[in-house]
Amino acid sequence: MTGEKNLQTLLAAMHPVLRDGEYVYVLWPHGKPLVPGIEAAVREAEGLTVVLPRAEADAHGLKYDFVAAWITLEVHSALEAVGLTAAVSRALTDARISCNVLAGFHHDHLLVPVADAARALEVLAELSAAHAAEPEPVRELRLRSEKPEDRDAVIALTAEAFSVSPVTGLPVEGEPVEVDLLRRLFASDAYLPELSVVAELDGEIVGHVICSRARADGIELLGLGPISVTPRLQRHGIGSALMHETVVRANAAGERGIALLGSTEYYPRFGFVPASSMGIEAPDKSWGDHFQFLPLALWPGGVHGTFQYAEPFAAVETNAGSGKR
Ligand SMILES: CC(C)(COP(=O)(O)OP(=O)(O)OC[C@H]1O[C@@H](n2cnc3c(N)ncnc32)[C@H](O)[C@@H]1OP(=O)(O)O)[C@@H](O)C(=O)NCCC(=O)NCCS
Repeated sequence: MTGEKNLQTLLAAMHPVLRDGEYVYVLWPHGKPLVPGIEAAVREAEGLTVVLPRAEADAHGLKYDFVAAWITLEVHSALEAVGLTAAVSRALTDARISCNVLAGFHHDHLLVPVADAARALEVLAELSAAHAAEPEPVRELRLRSEKPEDRDAVIALTAEAFSVSPVTGLPVEGEPVEVDLLRRLFASDAYLPELSVVAELDGEIVGHVICSRARADGIELLGLGPISVTPRLQRHGIGSALMHETVVRANAAGERGIALLGSTEYYPRFGFVPASSMGIEAPDKSWGDHFQFLPLALWPGGVHGTFQYAEPFAAVETNAGSGKR
């Protein structure tokens, strides 16, 4: 079965057209042969109801009460489409216009009192225009630099993402340490605005990642973290999108490499390797291969030294060493 089923589309495109003439409902006399000109018929136990032009009814001396104007909704609605007649009837009822609906294979047809025809067309045009003005919302995941007005949302997101420890898998009591770390990073000299990136879905902040200035062996590097995705949307690629965006931005900014402490299952997919294999030692040797490094396009090589995170990390480094993410 073809035909439009989406109610929004149907209402926007319904295009009501008034047929010429007047139409009447007639209870067809039993045994009387049918005549040309019948537009619709319904057989019931009590008899046959037909709809035909008033002139035809008059010519055959048939009785009727209701004289109607015939409006066709010229959109090809699927017979199984839900809600079109209900929406149209509701709009006409609100305008105090009575309406009988006939569904054909291709279109729906409305029979309204002749005196109300012009007003009915107006009501239907308004209904159609109201829905044409409401296009389907476009769902969009947007990655952009974090702004000061995003801070509350980013802090709340981080608190939610780290409410279960990625190290132990257990609920965290009180405020996760990553939240205070983030606050301190925002206030720190090591904060790099272009490398604090939010993921926004339909205007809601659903992810965040930050890199801050760090050093090793006298060269400037980046320390990545925290990274958070709102729990209900984890494992939908948002974390990956934030990681890729960070690498693109860091390369564009002429950075040389990014270090992080995290899962050896997750970060290698973005090119991270054990930092010690690149000559970068963890601030805490017990972190082992969980301390990872991504050399960027401008990585000079030949670097040997201990990684120094931005100062706000000092408070959390000790905790981080007690477990591997
Ligand atoms: C870690 C986090 C940022 C990843 O973001 P995400 O949007 O959920 O991840 P993506 O959808 O891009 O990637 C999903 C993939 O990563 C894997 N993955 C995600 N987090 C992982 C983790 N901590 N350890 C191992 N694998 C992980 C998933 O299994 C999935 O693998 P698959 O593609 O093979 O199925 C997010 O899960 C999060 O906010 N977690 C809580 C806070 C946190 O742990 N931050 C990082 C601390 S280092």
